[in-house]
Amino acid sequence: MKIGIDKVGFFAPHLYLDMTELAEAREVDPGKFTIGIGQEKMAVAPLTQDPVTMAANAAWEIVDDVDRDAIDFVIFATESGIDHSKSAAIYVHQLLGLKPGARCIEVKQACYGATAAIQMAKGHVALHPDRKVLVLGSDIARYGLNTGGEVTQGAGAVALLIGQDPKIMALEDDSVYLTDDIMDFWRPVYSEMAFVDGKFSNEQYLSFFSRVWEQYKVQNNLTLKDFAAICFHLPYTKMGLKALRTVLEEGDEVVQERLQANFQKGQIYNRNVGNIYTGSLYLSVLSLLEQQDDLSAGDRIGLFSYGSGAVGEFFSGILQPGYKTHLHVSAHDALFAARQALTVAEYEEIFQSGLPTDGSAMELNIDLDPAPIVLAGVEDHMRKYVNKASEGM
Ligand code: HMG
Repeated sequence: MKIGIDKVGFFAPHLYLDMTELAEAREVDPGKFTIGIGQEKMAVAPLTQDPVTMAANAAWEIVDDVDRDAIDFVIFATESGIDHSKSAAIYVHQLLGLKPGARCIEVKQACYGATAAIQMAKGHVALHPDRKVLVLGSDIARYGLNTGGEVTQGAGAVALLIGQDPKIMALEDDSVYLTDDIMDFWRPVYSEMAFVDGKFSNEQYLSFFSRVWEQYKVQNNLTLKDFAAICFHLPYTKMGLKALRTVLEEGDEVVQERLQANFQKGQIYNRNVGNIYTGSLYLSVLSLLEQQDDLSAGDRIGLFSYGSGAVGEFFSGILQPGYKTHLHVSAHDALFAARQALTVAEYEEIFQSGLPTDGSAMELNIDLDPAPIVLAGVEDHMRKYVNKASEGM
């Protein structure tokens, strides 16, 4: 039975900061941010968007009534969770109007969470082929103003519908995965900001990639030439490029050119959104599929997932006939085109704003946010969500 990605939805908030402006404000050569790091724009979440609303907006784009009937499992991968106890999946379940006969959970392992969720979803569909699983990866990456990681911040979500006979990509049973207890990036429960050993995290990312890739080739009897493209977790786009460059020499000139060209297409969305942690690898897959016209059904796409702490996994998927007709290219073009630029001062103000943590009420102006699903405020320690699109339904 083929199991894989049936639909992909994506959401980023309507506000962004240009990295050239950030570089100038931080008195850094803009080339460091746009070339050295490889980021153009950073999506910025206003208070009306949190990990729940972003995930719900990404899913709202793809979930129809047939899916509502088939989805009986929602797995929300995030490292920006809003509650230590209640899973963010339950809010999304309600906002999308999913049927009560469903499981809802949240999973965490840094940026690797959505990959774990997909693998769990595959197991569920293997046992219940008529059902579908909604996998969500949604995060706001925060390192802090004036930090080395600031340029790699971002916000956004990806929603993946996993089912049998998938319309977009069948996932192979070829995973190689690896865990090692390291402190490259972490966020203690008392901190709004991530702690990171930047250089060490880069080294570990490359080391994990090398170790899973070497084992993958032996385990699956495949080589670089068997891949039409390789997509990477992209904390910033240069990181994936560095990893790709470590293996390019294993292919001839044709293979090298193909993989480099496809890498370029697979980093377009990430370059304009920033790190969205759990969703980053799948945003790159989406960017590749939507921005590259040269791919064909049957092409094998490699996927490298990395989550600090750390877990890494390499696996692959096979593109399905007609996959392109099931994507939402024009909606995503429109999403990017409609975004509003912030000044550095406006971005800093949003960055430093927050919801009350003492139980007092705050009402947010949801008319300023064009997204269908928004956070309308907080009261008695409870977030109030609104789905504008479903009001009156
Ligand atoms: P930094 O020290 O500010 O930057 O931190 P740098 O000095 O290393 O420079 C970066 C690159 O810019 C270098 O290129 C420079 O040469 C180049 P490289 O040698 O790396 O190829 N450069 C220029 N290029 C063109 N024109 C110029 C110029 N000047 C310099 N004028 C760092 C960079 C990534 C460490 C920092 O931003 C950081 O700490 N980021 C956050 C951590 C991170 O993203 N780590 C990635 C791996 S860990 C991971 O992926 C997991 C994660 O997503 C979390 C999770 O799993 O949940 C983060």
